Amino acid sequence: MTPEIKTELSGSGVLVVTISRPDKKNALTNDMYGALADAIARANDDDGIRVLLIQADGDTFTAGNDVSEFAAQAMGNGPKERHVTRFLRSLANATVPIVAAVQGNAVGVGTTMLLHCDYVLLSEEARLMTPFVNLALVPEAASSYLLPLRIGHAKAFEMFALGQPVSAVVAVAWGIANRTASAAELRAEARSVAEKIAAKPVGSLTAMKRLMRNAERLVAQMDCESNIFLERLASAEAKEAFTAFSQKRQPDFTSIMRG
Ligand code: COA
Repeated sequence: MTPEIKTELSGSGVLVVTISRPDKKNALTNDMYGALADAIARANDDDGIRVLLIQADGDTFTAGNDVSEFAAQAMGNGPKERHVTRFLRSLANATVPIVAAVQGNAVGVGTTMLLHCDYVLLSEEARLMTPFVNLALVPEAASSYLLPLRIGHAKAFEMFALGQPVSAVVAVAWGIANRTASAAELRAEARSVAEKIAAKPVGSLTAMKRLMRNAERLVAQMDCESNIFLERLASAEAKEAFTAFSQKRQPDFTSIMRG
């Protein structure tokens, strides 16, 4: 349990999960991943939950994984259980429909988790970023498979390699999200979509979602990514990236050879 992930079940069967660590731009810690994984497991298991709605407090959806926790893991001081693995697997295996309401920046896993959501609403100023390579890491959440599948190799390579923000309008045009809403209306619009879905026949929805996704394939990709991700975390390049982040400077990779 962490107060940084809040859950609330509506009368119509929508489980609203709110990421709430606004002072750190909703950067996700191991405990927060654990609570998110628990919420998805609860939504899958509880017949009273018909839709999961993920939203976030503050001006940022999430700045992605907490970089100081990456740095701790790189030094061998990581947690005993990496809840991120459970979170990602539960996303891949989710049978409950997932709606996301995204405002501001959605960085790293903040963007890649959207590839597992079924209906994504972006506020007009939202920006999606996948700067894994900037941190000397590799993409996760099966995004190395799902993003090229969704938007094509050229655009996916650009997003991963350059890590530059993609605007809400472009993300909708590329098919990463369904539509935009004004920041003021984002939550209400997302809630309205979630309630419309919650009123549909749940057996049919669940069967449809299963047909649309190959969970086994996604988990296999996640496992593959995770092995390489952990190797990358221990690299000299990643060390430089995390040190630069903590020192609020740009990293310099030019003197590090391919390893
Ligand atoms: N992990 C840990 N702390 C983070 C964080 C992260 N991923 N992202 C932001 N923070 C912290 C900052 O260190 C800062 O903390 P401080 O107030 O104690 O100094 C606070 O959140 C505010 O961040 P700041 O960078 O000042 O906000 P901004 O509006 O100028 O920029 C971002 C927002 C998200 C663009 C920027 O913070 C960023 O690029 N963060 C890193 C994103 C990242 O690389 N994530 C991992 C992806 S794999």
